[in-house]
Amino acid sequence: MNILITGGSSGLGAAITRKLAADTKNKVYFTYNNSAAKAKEIESIFENTTAIKWDFTNEEETSALATSLSILELDVLVNNAYTGEAIKTYFHKIPQNDFLIDFRNNLIPTIAITQAAINNFRKKKSGKIITILTSFLINNPPTGSSIYTANKAYLEQLCKVWATENAKYKITSNMISPSFMLTDFTKNVDSRIISQMTEDHVLGSLLTTDEVAEAVEFLSKSSPHINGMNMIINAASNIK
Ligand SMILES: NC(=O)c1ccc[n+]([C@@H]2O[C@H](COP(=O)([O-])OP(=O)(O)OC[C@H]3O[C@@H](n4cnc5c(N)ncnc54)[C@H](OP(=O)(O)O)[C@@H]3O)[C@@H](O)[C@H]2O)c1
Repeated sequence: MNILITGGSSGLGAAITRKLAADTKNKVYFTYNNSAAKAKEIESIFENTTAIKWDFTNEEETSALATSLSILELDVLVNNAYTGEAIKTYFHKIPQNDFLIDFRNNLIPTIAITQAAINNFRKKKSGKIITILTSFLINNPPTGSSIYTANKAYLEQLCKVWATENAKYKITSNMISPSFMLTDFTKNVDSRIISQMTEDHVLGSLLTTDEVAEAVEFLSKSSPHINGMNMIINAASNIK
């Protein structure tokens, strides 16, 4: 399979890239922005990987990547990259422009790449879109998460539309909503909070990026009947 992972050189994306590249039959393309050294390291370990520089916030780079998708002959698109913070401040204290910036920086590039992927998938009558959301969408969203969770909720709805509009072309769109993982995204979380979260966790350990990568691998190969699904990975903590 030809696979593209956005933000595939660091954090969860790197775990996904490594997991899918371990199957040498796959050709894995992954984008990076700041993590050039990590991208090179992955390329040096896995011969079947190619790093592509892509800054979400750069319209020219987004348009170049969207155009190149037809050359890559993709089978799978993994929408993983996110720029910004999960937790800011109370909704009423956030400047309105910050919502616009988040929309422009994250949703518009994801829309551009997914539109290009769907155009190509429709021609070959197959394709898989896997989008990383967050378990914050389930139950009470944390204080300060309005921009982040609204972004992911918007994306969730798009994922459902991608699933229904393209099902007859054997194109699937599935979501994965992971709980807290230790990555650069969560590096500013106080170590005492992390210890407490680990202690309180029903499994006594936090979710790892490798465990989520396993779920991505499953969805990358699954039947077209598995479509429009949101795989919530939170050890059943949403069930009250
Ligand atoms: N960590 C968690 O607890 C958690 C929980 C639920 C869901 N998630 C979701 O998991 C996904 C991956 O997050 P993560 O935890 O792995 O965080 P991360 O380590 O901060 O990864 C973010 C990724 O996005 C890329 N990125 C950031 N700014 C970019 C830009 N301007 N243009 C292009 N790419 C950009 C980064 O690439 P470079 O490193 O190359 O700059 C990086 O690969 C996100 O969608 C996040 O919402 C995370």
